[in-house]
Amino acid sequence: MNGYGKLLNGVQVLVVGGQQFGDEGKGKYADVFAQQADVIARCQGGANSGHTINANGKTLVTHLVPSGILYDQHGKINILGSGMAIDPRVLILELEALEKEGISFNHLIISLNAKLTLPQHIALDKIADELKKGDPAKGRIGTTGRGIGPTYTGHYARDGLRVNDMLNPDILKKRLALNLEDKIALLETYDPELVKKVMHHKDLSNGIYYDPKNIFNFDVIIEQYRGYGQRLKQFIRDTDAFVRKAKQDGKRLLLEGAQAYLLDIDMGTYPYVTSSNCSPSGIARGAGLDEKDIDLFLGVVKFPYMTRVGEGPFPTEFGGSKSAEWCGKDGITKEKEKLIYGEVSINDADGFNKGVAVRSAGNEYGATTGRPRRTGWLDLPLLRYAIEHNGPNVILTKIDVFDRCEEIKICVAYRYEGPHYNLGDIFLAHGTVLLTAVPEAEVLKYCQPIYESFPGWLCDTSQIRSFNNLPRLLKNIIGRVVKLSGMNPKIISVGADREQTIFV
Ligand code: GDP
Ligand code: IMO
Ligand code: MG
Repeated sequence: MNGYGKLLNGVQVLVVGGQQFGDEGKGKYADVFAQQADVIARCQGGANSGHTINANGKTLVTHLVPSGILYDQHGKINILGSGMAIDPRVLILELEALEKEGISFNHLIISLNAKLTLPQHIALDKIADELKKGDPAKGRIGTTGRGIGPTYTGHYARDGLRVNDMLNPDILKKRLALNLEDKIALLETYDPELVKKVMHHKDLSNGIYYDPKNIFNFDVIIEQYRGYGQRLKQFIRDTDAFVRKAKQDGKRLLLEGAQAYLLDIDMGTYPYVTSSNCSPSGIARGAGLDEKDIDLFLGVVKFPYMTRVGEGPFPTEFGGSKSAEWCGKDGITKEKEKLIYGEVSINDADGFNKGVAVRSAGNEYGATTGRPRRTGWLDLPLLRYAIEHNGPNVILTKIDVFDRCEEIKICVAYRYEGPHYNLGDIFLAHGTVLLTAVPEAEVLKYCQPIYESFPGWLCDTSQIRSFNNLPRLLKNIIGRVVKLSGMNPKIISVGADREQTIFV
């Protein structure tokens, strides 16, 4: 039995999800495990995701379609589940890109109940973020600007639209009119020039929805979304029922999480989170299943570092607030950073420079927005928190990024250095030591990491394919983290390619 066989023995429903702040390498492992699955589903989130797959010498980035799309043989079905927020414009662009690459998507189905992202959602998302720029008191989130928050807000406010509405023009009109009412009223209170500028963004089809008098051109939205509906009609159906039947029939299911646990709307570092449930239970629900249906959850964890995109606390960030500020600026691209900081080293004594070097070595630039990802050491209080909730089974990724690093530091605990804080029945005073993180931004922002230090392994891991052959110093660090966090590594990833996978 090979590594996959052993790991998946007795597993019918496998969930691959992130245990940190996203971009852990879920796409790589959804692609890898898709080979073993009959049905592959994306379950929550929307075009805020960027999942990268390296296969057959090519790189594919998916935003909405599941990362299992490359395996179209043996009748495998790929699903966009009911928990997702779907922007049909982005989906159609993605399908066109697949078509160009000769990748079949005849085996794709889309949930009729997935939440529909509309122009007003994208406009509100972008304007809210723009208005909060530059003033820390306003609590800017630094979203991806894909309309995710407002789409889910509409769902919970019970005036949202769903994918199936695109197939029924009268209902589409009725529901759109209702949904737009309060959005227009709100947008009318904003600077009209800002509204106009945002409405001309390329994510809003360069202004086609803009009406100088009513802000939105109702008829154009209807026309566009009816067209999207016609284009997607052949794929739209009750995917929840399909998934339940597949489960009953003994098919093997792979559920691909998007975003990650620390960005989960309920369990993450609120309010610096996304608007969907990225937890195993949320992932299962978004495919029409229940948490109890999950046979194995594999949490993807970057090691020995982590990244975060957008605002929010990040206690172990290399370069602290200087890094957060730099990464939050508009227009910082990989190319620009290379031009300015081309010479920095992963061993730089300056934290900010080290962070830039890690970003460059790990290619840590957003797969969706191109933004630089903030980088920092692996944080065990956060990992313990995630493992406590989701179980210990993890895939450790991106080890190779630290092959040249002379000293590895792991954050083993925090010292809280903020003002007195009441956390329910727990009282936090200056100097309180925390072993497990609490998902509260007001606490995390005052947490100072306490580190353990290890010598780096200083050799190329990217060609290694067996756990025994990994450098002793690396195995020591993994062993120490296992002891301190309770994680149970099942796979170690030493490169972006499918083959760069080691079973533990
Ligand atoms: P996702 O959102 O979790 O799917 O992750 P992203 O695709 O946004 O970002 C992960 C990045 O790391 C991608 O560019 C992957 O190709 C890459 N990657 C995945 N695993 C490894 C690894 O073990 N080593 C290296 N160097 N890159 C990896
Ligand atoms: P994948 O699936 C990393 C972050 C954004 C922002 C916050 C809210 O590729 O791991 P949103 O647009 O969702 O309202 O933004 O969440 N974020 C992600 N960060 N990877 C992602 O997805 C993310 N999706 C959203 O940067 O801080
Ligand atoms: Mg990503």
